[in-house]
Amino acid sequence: MSLTPVGFRRPDDPGRKITTASLREQKLRHEPITCITAYDYATARLIDEASVEMVLVGDSLAQTMLGYENTLSVTMDEMLHHVKAVRRGVKNALLIADMPYGSYQVDAKDAVANATRFVKEGGAEVVKIEGGEKRADLIRHIIDAEIPVAGHIGLTPQSVNVMGGYKVQGKNLNGIEQLMRDAVALDRAGVACLYLEGIPREVAAMITAEVSTPTIGIGAGPECDGQVLVFHDIVNLTFAQPAKFVRRYGDAAGLITQAVQAFRADVRSHQYPSDEESYHLPKETKAALDTVLERKRAMRR
Ligand code: KIV
Repeated sequence: MSLTPVGFRRPDDPGRKITTASLREQKLRHEPITCITAYDYATARLIDEASVEMVLVGDSLAQTMLGYENTLSVTMDEMLHHVKAVRRGVKNALLIADMPYGSYQVDAKDAVANATRFVKEGGAEVVKIEGGEKRADLIRHIIDAEIPVAGHIGLTPQSVNVMGGYKVQGKNLNGIEQLMRDAVALDRAGVACLYLEGIPREVAAMITAEVSTPTIGIGAGPECDGQVLVFHDIVNLTFAQPAKFVRRYGDAAGLITQAVQAFRADVRSHQYPSDEESYHLPKETKAALDTVLERKRAMRR
């Protein structure tokens, strides 16, 4: 009998496949987990090659890639298009697909069918669903269909209209109690990991200590088992004031603007393309062409 070893990445073994089981082991070892969103092949490939453990095709692509105002309008087909592209770029990281608004709220049958599309057509390994204890039964249904589920509680952007804006959750005792109930219910339902968004550090620390599933924080403080950031936030591609928790690690907007302006300037000043950047005729063809042209010129004289 051969058992595939459950892998986690070590510096001396950077090519190991990350699995839901290896994430749990990482939590037990108190080894921080990194997750970054990706929406296209090139970015996904670079993130994967940087040994990031989790790649999330977030419905944040509604804003970052498609220019929508919020995440509510993005469709299953739009999400799938990006999940497929990311799949082609990711080898070792665990690939998580966000289920868009409307794809799991209507009924469980619909939700399982949509989750199945992410696995079958998109190649996702985990699907992510927003919401707390009220989603526990639905999550069980999806897991019953052999699809691992990531939970997402706290500031859940698909509830923007109900929350009345993007507000930090769990700031009073009732809110804390609700978040604890949400976390425990999803942990018991068997989520592969739990995203904690926009909640006080103290509450995220309590949840992380309470649940056996790895917690992945965004605006939830340093005690989470892992951290996720939106790719466009960390490289300055959002055209907006970043949230308090965002740390910028690069300036892609600056880099792209500089490259595009330099190209335009070279075109306008005839500096691009140079002779070295042009294709040339083979010597014999050039000689034959010169002869033909010379003959034509002679006939015109
Ligand atoms: O859509 C997304 O990018 C997310 C992360 C912020 C967790 O859900």
